[in-house]
Amino acid sequence: MRVYVACPFPAPVLDLFVQRFGAAHNGTGRVLDNDALIAAAQGMDALVITVTNRIDGGLAAALPASVKALCTYSVGTDHLDLDALQAKGIAVFSTPDVLNESCADTAMLLMLGAARRVIEGIGLIRQGTWTGWSPLQLIGHDVWGKRLGILGMGRIGRAIARRARGFGMQVHYHNRSRLAPDAEAGAHYHESLESLAGHSDFLCIACPANASTRGIVNAGILARLPAHAIVCNVARGDVIRDEDLVQALRSGAIAAAGLDVYAGEPDIHPAYRELPNVFGLPHIGSSTIDTRIAMGEILCSGLEAWSRGSRPANQLC
Ligand code: DGY
Repeated sequence: MRVYVACPFPAPVLDLFVQRFGAAHNGTGRVLDNDALIAAAQGMDALVITVTNRIDGGLAAALPASVKALCTYSVGTDHLDLDALQAKGIAVFSTPDVLNESCADTAMLLMLGAARRVIEGIGLIRQGTWTGWSPLQLIGHDVWGKRLGILGMGRIGRAIARRARGFGMQVHYHNRSRLAPDAEAGAHYHESLESLAGHSDFLCIACPANASTRGIVNAGILARLPAHAIVCNVARGDVIRDEDLVQALRSGAIAAAGLDVYAGEPDIHPAYRELPNVFGLPHIGSSTIDTRIAMGEILCSGLEAWSRGSRPANQLC
């Protein structure tokens, strides 16, 4: 199988594709634009891309006829027009499950970083402006013992819930449907996001971005949170209405936000760079070497299984 790796990869991940398929790769270190991607795809059976390659209907149609498989180095698929890819007969593979734990670690990091005012604390250390310990210094909020509302109780949401229980948090969630009791593990189900927000000290977003979730964390939902609430997002920026969150953070309607993902990233809402109550990370949810390798491994295994005629669990269409 002729495989082209279009995105820059850490060496051990690239090695997986080179050793298993003799893959060619984009050595520029940059994301290829559409024309360059189409040119590089000529004669290839499979392409490996990631979230920074948006494959809409037009680009799917323009891909060379040789391309029969597309691997996205991500669990999220909102950058892909899956219907168009399926219509063209291209099999699509993603990286479910292998990044649940690292993303859940990042969710805890966001909760802790935002609640304990880590951005401001680092500023005092780095700028040499710390004047010494004071009972008034950087008073934050406890994480332990609080109510955590999880929006999207899929695999990542459940991994966050497991960690939160270790912090003594009470877990609440809203999901398209209620989980079975063993998966729920004592978490309180809310039929609406409004109800979840009314029972959350921390609201953590872990749902995919799609037509039914874009912009659902809006002024109406934020208004239901208590003033000490903290909003965290490890999913996709589009789920939040940025103007509404910025307004809530500026006015003190909520205490803080911990964000790893943003609408339009890397061109993020400018207020997120300036507000002291935003603990912002640059979309590093799954960025550990262990997870990066596991993501490469699941794609290679999926491609191999598919080429033998099976349908692997990470094949989406
Ligand atoms: C994912 O896997 O969807 C991450 O957000 C990017 O790799």
